[in-house]
Amino acid sequence: MAQDQIAVVVLAAGMGTRMKSALPKVMHPIAGQPMVRHLLDTVADLAPGKVVAVVGPGMDAVAAAVSPHPAVIQADRLGTGHAVGQARGALQGFEGTVLVLYGDTPLITAQTLRSMLDCRRAAPHPAVVVLGFRPADTGQYGRLVVNADGLQEIVEHKDASEAQRAITLCNSGVMAVDGARLFGWIDRLTNANAKGEYYLTDLVALARADGLPCGYVEGSEEELLGVNSRVDLAAAEAVAQARLRRAAMEGGATLTDPASVFLCHDTRLGRDVVIGPQVVFGPGVTVGDNVEIRAFSHLEGATVADGAIIGPFARLRPGAEIGSGAHVGNFVEIKKAVVETGAKVNHLTYIGDARIGAKANIGAGTITCNYDGFGKYRTDIGAGAFIGSNSSLVAPVTVGDGAIVGAGSVVTRDVAAGALAVERSKQTERAGWADRFRETRVKETAGRKKD
Ligand code: UD1
Ligand code: MG
Repeated sequence: MAQDQIAVVVLAAGMGTRMKSALPKVMHPIAGQPMVRHLLDTVADLAPGKVVAVVGPGMDAVAAAVSPHPAVIQADRLGTGHAVGQARGALQGFEGTVLVLYGDTPLITAQTLRSMLDCRRAAPHPAVVVLGFRPADTGQYGRLVVNADGLQEIVEHKDASEAQRAITLCNSGVMAVDGARLFGWIDRLTNANAKGEYYLTDLVALARADGLPCGYVEGSEEELLGVNSRVDLAAAEAVAQARLRRAAMEGGATLTDPASVFLCHDTRLGRDVVIGPQVVFGPGVTVGDNVEIRAFSHLEGATVADGAIIGPFARLRPGAEIGSGAHVGNFVEIKKAVVETGAKVNHLTYIGDARIGAKANIGAGTITCNYDGFGKYRTDIGAGAFIGSNSSLVAPVTVGDGAIVGAGSVVTRDVAAGALAVERSKQTERAGWADRFRETRVKETAGRKKD
């Protein structure tokens, strides 16, 4: 039983200097969440008994991102083997399989990790299983030396002979190791190599020296893309987006122009959702069935119920809850507000800290004035109410069910259900005034040159 258990060590102590950033490398987001969280989400699929991250000194943000899993600090960066050694205390007594992952290789799939675990379980029960791949450019990668007897050793590029450098099978860095033996081997690592580091990769030769078999499985270059620079980050984002778009379409959403839709790791879409071009999803968006999200809309922290229509050019900010069949049209911003079933907010409007009752109609240019420079206040609009165009609703304020607000009103007091509120000066009219005005001006300006 104990042998079947899995523990995961995520190496994330690297500075990521090539990112040229104040943010630790593994905190850079991909599809709206830090890289390291993608790894944790992936390994969660394997139901590991334990997960521990190895972080550098002062990387509190990384420790917080991996929480509730523990983070251990590697004070001196003495190599990948030394880094794994820092997890010894956290994995005390663990005798299952330890999976070692790199925090900056966030696109690895659970399927590939499973194939490594399967390899370890199958005869000849390798003590170490390495994830290999064949990159187009073998560059600085370690090489897997394999013969009929399986994996013999990993040679780092810097330590490799010309013949070894010709090997195309490279080390991705991901390993599945017999947890009962792992730390014994870590103790036996030396740094007598080109980099003067304690290489995790030397575990293979140590296992072999102990007469134990080692194996490897092959993964795709795409999922083993390591992020070392902002250019790599963009490449990883592209891979993550392609996966999310595919999953969305496979789940029953139509993406008219998939390449221009940006999804978030946690975007949830119902069936028969149609998403137009240039739509961006930030974190925390849930969309029901039969929803249409038209071009150039931006959504984050919002829920959209069945049959609603959003956009084009709509912005749903955190706390926007759009009810079934409701419409939110162009140049409308909704923040922390409930738009109930069938309500319409179709043009040029800001709704913040509010409730719009079922089937209410909000006219073009309506603004909820929710902020006085100090506090935020609520606007409550009843079911079936009609707010005339270009109205300002100065919160806190309530408009009762079925009430009508005349266009252009600045509403500062509550409006009773069923009432009409109009707040604007009376319209006056002077018969013939415009005609007289023009006649006079024509005479006055006759013969003058226009500027
Ligand atoms: C490593 C492998 C190499 C493999 C390559 C794949 C070793 C010795 N070599 O080389 O075979 O082809 O990855 O990308 O393992 N880290 C720490 N603490 C340390 C050193 C590294 O946490 O003291 C972390 C880094 O943050 C990074 C990972 O381990 O996430 C890999 O370290 P890196 O220095 O990039 O190793 P490579 O030289 O690329
Ligand atoms: Mg590297």
